[in-house]
Amino acid sequence: MIIAIDGPSGAGKSTVAKAVAKKLGFSCLDTGAMYRAIAWQAVADGVPFDDDAALGQVARTHEIAFGHVEGDPVPKRVFIGGVEVTDAIRTAEIDRAVSPVSAAPSVREALVEQQRRIGRAGDYVVEGRDIGTVVFPEAPVKVFLTASDEERAHRRVRQNVDRGIGSIDYDEVLADLRRRDEIDSSRATSPLRPADDAVRLDSTGRYIEDVIDEICALADEARA
Ligand code: DC
Repeated sequence: MIIAIDGPSGAGKSTVAKAVAKKLGFSCLDTGAMYRAIAWQAVADGVPFDDDAALGQVARTHEIAFGHVEGDPVPKRVFIGGVEVTDAIRTAEIDRAVSPVSAAPSVREALVEQQRRIGRAGDYVVEGRDIGTVVFPEAPVKVFLTASDEERAHRRVRQNVDRGIGSIDYDEVLADLRRRDEIDSSRATSPLRPADDAVRLDSTGRYIEDVIDEICALADEARA
């Protein structure tokens, strides 16, 4: 069974997806991390962001793998071509690179295929932008998670501090996420939009535990 969680960056998708997976005993797939890994490889190889064919080649020839930190059932480590990029894909440079890279049709084609292969192997919570619309349109549970721009920017700033990556400027983060929302929502291939049958949840000012419980209840209903 697939639980699809889509929405803009900073809406709380990752936190919610990981917690729901833990509660239900599902695996968890962070598709944003896959696009980030390809963006990191493209930067490392000096591939121009407007070269669809070359970006597609990067996506088809580098294996992306997830790994566990000991004692944690949710895979949080990310590898591409055998190189660990867990922290390297969370920098401001990759934040900027990932929008054009994830808009490349041949990158999407390669990654969607991988995501379907992974998800079909078991029970998965899959989070991203196009999971309910394109990757798993038949998913029995689809959630479109949002939050206000300001709350999302605050969360991103806190997340970076918590990860020990360093502090970042709030106004810059806010401007950057609005710019990325605009690119993600207006691109030709798989734009960010809720599936017609998605349940829309706004996490602004809500306890994250409530959102998690609500999604678990939707999953229980779908399983019944
Ligand atoms: O969720 P995130 O911020 O880690 O995602 C990084 C980027 O990848 C984001 O700009 C949108 C893109 N993305 C996408 O296009 N499709 C997905 N299924 C997941 C992420």
